[in-house]
Amino acid sequence: VARSVRRYEPADRRAVEEICFQVGFMGEPASVFWPHRKSFVDLWAGDYLDREPESAFVAIADGALVGYLVGCVDTASWPDENARMMRVFMRHKLPFRPSMTSFLVRSTLDAIRDRGTAAGGLRDPRWPSHLHINLVEMARGTGLGSMLMTAWLEHARTAGSPGCHLSTMAENSRALSFFAKHGFTVHGTAQPIPGVRTVKGGRVHQLFMVRTL
Ligand SMILES: CC(C)(COP(=O)(O)OP(=O)(O)OC[C@H]1O[C@@H](n2cnc3c(N)ncnc32)[C@H](O)[C@@H]1OP(=O)(O)O)[C@@H](O)C(=O)NCCC(=O)NCCS
Repeated sequence: VARSVRRYEPADRRAVEEICFQVGFMGEPASVFWPHRKSFVDLWAGDYLDREPESAFVAIADGALVGYLVGCVDTASWPDENARMMRVFMRHKLPFRPSMTSFLVRSTLDAIRDRGTAAGGLRDPRWPSHLHINLVEMARGTGLGSMLMTAWLEHARTAGSPGCHLSTMAENSRALSFFAKHGFTVHGTAQPIPGVRTVKGGRVHQLFMVRTL
């Protein structure tokens, strides 16, 4: 199999969005907790490709796009995560989408029960950059993830960033060991994410990881 990583090009957009929704929940379909495809993909892929296409990389295996990494070099230059989330809510009219009702009700109840511990994004000048990485199942364990990460870290470093953070799920053990292998350490403690449940119904927790560049 011929494997490579290159910079994102506009023609890659559909394939990136497809992977985002297909594996966007710890390698499982995002529809497990967020059934409305367009809004999920807008928030976690499209917005990154619109704002910072030069910070996106794709992984290719035998000519097919099998993974991507999207990033933001300076998180402080972007609207915060709650504002980005609210924009997507409005743009896609999520409160009026029947498919999203159970998620929205559950998030509201969770937020009350958790007393507002939901984390959102991390804005710390020590680690201003952040990223999201996703590979289809057949591309995992092939080295493509590491190639994407190496390309991104070099890009952020070249742009002058002193550090990078990411948000993952404490239940995503494979991602945790992958990020640790790439120099990231856990920052803070895991916080329950409102509305999100595993297929078996368990709560899911957000965990920040950081590294200097
Ligand atoms: C997270 C991801 C990018 C990592 O890429 P990868 O190619 O799978 O990573 P690696 O194969 O290098 O695995 C990393 C480590 O996880 C561990 N690991 C491998 N398979 C595992 C499994 N099934 N379960 C738990 N840990 C596993 C190994 O310790 C491995 O380290 P090693 O290479 O020293 O043996 C990729 O798995 C992925 O896209 N997953 C689905 C989407 C996702 O979860 N994205 C991250 C969201 S924050």
